[in-house]
Amino acid sequence: MRFSVDGEYLDRPSFRVEGDSIVLLDQRRLPSETVLLELSDLDGFVEAIRTLAVRGAPAIGAFGGCALSICYSNGVDTAYERLKCSRPTAVDLVNCLDEVKTAFDGDGVDGARKRAMEIVERTISACKRIGEVGAELIFDKARVMTHCNAGALATLDWGTALAPIRIAYRDGRDPFVWVSETRPLLQGSRLTAWELVQEGIQHKVVVDSASGYLMRKGEVDLVIVGADRVCRNGDFANKIGTYGKAVMAHELGIPFYVAFPETTFDRGCACGDGIPIEERGEEEVVEFAESRISPSGSRGFNPAFDVTPGEYVTGYITERGILDRDDLMKKTT
Ligand code: MRU
Repeated sequence: MRFSVDGEYLDRPSFRVEGDSIVLLDQRRLPSETVLLELSDLDGFVEAIRTLAVRGAPAIGAFGGCALSICYSNGVDTAYERLKCSRPTAVDLVNCLDEVKTAFDGDGVDGARKRAMEIVERTISACKRIGEVGAELIFDKARVMTHCNAGALATLDWGTALAPIRIAYRDGRDPFVWVSETRPLLQGSRLTAWELVQEGIQHKVVVDSASGYLMRKGEVDLVIVGADRVCRNGDFANKIGTYGKAVMAHELGIPFYVAFPETTFDRGCACGDGIPIEERGEEEVVEFAESRISPSGSRGFNPAFDVTPGEYVTGYITERGILDRDDLMKKTT
């Protein structure tokens, strides 16, 4: 992905390993500031995941794998458990931690580092492939609605939901994106919009509750979202607000796609009821930019994800092609 820091133009993934550190673009400070953060200890790695300096399921997974490999090099033996508990919903985190732990158990520190770097490369190439596969859905002038940020920031590069749009645009088509702002942490209006500005792709930011209005007016040709965990039956978790969009798209006959790489698939999870849903602090809801917006007597409730039943999904855009629910079930056998 391309961005500039202090006037210097960079073309690099949203984070990378440099020696025994990880240098990442701090997603908490976008879009007003592009700041690279260097982290080298377990507390810093865990805090970066917990506070969303690094976020998005595939990015959390690859970051966790790299962090674990660095902790192994430094002889820190509590890293696996602490990283695993840092956020519960995106299965990529535990999938990638398990891969790196297995490599460490077999081949030590060097094996763990090698496996972490393979996960980084694999994530980038899977997302590029998702873009190539999904680009066939993006006809010229297609109006695509998305939710949260499933772009390069969330995946190291390319994105999942944004990758088909990026590739269609680079191929000369002219897509338009409805960016749902994504309360309460505004990953849509801060991060997806920022990525689309970097690419020069046309878009408008709308409040989350405008989705039904736009769909009913015929302003949305298709919806594409990412995922944090996809179950064997096709149910999936994604940012809170995804379920409502899926129901409305179904009601109005608008195609609804989910884009995700292999690491987001949870073979051990039969259906959406088994997905752990992260609940974040109520201050994210009752405050805005650190100022109270609800009465001091009001409590908030802040589920960060919801579960969408597979029956609302038109297709799953993966590095192996666009799959239907039957194809997903076959992946488990
Ligand atoms: O809380 P976040 O910002 O980590 O939530 C991210 C999402 O819900 C994304 O849509 C999902 O991880 C897919 S990222 C390719």
